Amino acid sequence: MELLKVEGLNLWYRDKKVLHDVSFSVKSGEVLCIVGESGSGKSSIFHAVMGLLPPYARVEGRIIFKGKNLLELSEKEMRGIRGKDIGMVFQEPSLYLDPLFTVGVQIMEAYTEHFGKKGAYERTIKAMVKAGIPEPEEKFRMYPHQLSGGLKQRVCIAVAVVCEPPLILADEPTTALDVSLQKRILHLFRKFREEGKGIVIITHDFGVVAEVGDRVIVLKDGRIVEEGDVFSIFDNPRHEYTKRLLRAL
Ligand SMILES: Nc1ncnc2c1ncn2[C@@H]1O[C@H](COP(=O)(O)OP(=O)(O)OP(=O)(O)O)[C@@H](O)[C@H]1O
Ligand SMILES: [Mg+2]
Repeated sequence: MELLKVEGLNLWYRDKKVLHDVSFSVKSGEVLCIVGESGSGKSSIFHAVMGLLPPYARVEGRIIFKGKNLLELSEKEMRGIRGKDIGMVFQEPSLYLDPLFTVGVQIMEAYTEHFGKKGAYERTIKAMVKAGIPEPEEKFRMYPHQLSGGLKQRVCIAVAVVCEPPLILADEPTTALDVSLQKRILHLFRKFREEGKGIVIITHDFGVVAEVGDRVIVLKDGRIVEEGDVFSIFDNPRHEYTKRLLRAL
């Protein structure tokens, strides 16, 4: 089943056009990777889908989720979707987490915002377990600075899954981590896929694609230059730019 369908997305920041007719879709039980160099427009796609563009951005096209065009929803309606129906993982956990609150409270808040306090603690612990956090009751009471980078990213993943959204969008979720931690985090996304979630992972690194991707779109200067299943792109990249990204591996 198609979870998210992006059609003919065009985006401008003031008068600078950064996305050109971008279209793709994601199904349940599938990991779609969006790959491209810095500045190719990856995060802009993420922000457009989540309704997190700055006020001076102008966007055209359709982003269909659950039968609705997200581009037509109000900020209030989008707030009801973010976190609840679409989980989000950001690149830099230290920027995302609030240093003044325990990580447990921050995960729990992501739940209570949509579902209220009832059962929230249990759901939080469950999400922490799911995100691969050992001794969750103990970690619940810790502050972000008391945790390693890998654990902080797991906390962000717990925030993203605590409401059990059918779709997860992750923007460079492992860029700040070393290779062995990266593999462990990507393994979590594979497990979410096995549960039937749809997942979009944004990355500049074909190593990440090799690890978890089912399908890939390659973005260059705001345009999709190549798309296909992971095996065919690794075996037979057509675009010179894709070949170059692959050589960097
Ligand atoms: N808020 C913004 N205001 C104006 N221009 C922006 C804004 N965000 C991004 N841009 C510009 O839009 C283009 C695409 O940026 P974007 O952040 O989407 O790329 P990216 O692929 O995510 O890059 P990176 O790998 O560095 O994160 C770039 O030219 C960038 O300078
Ligand atoms: Mg980015």
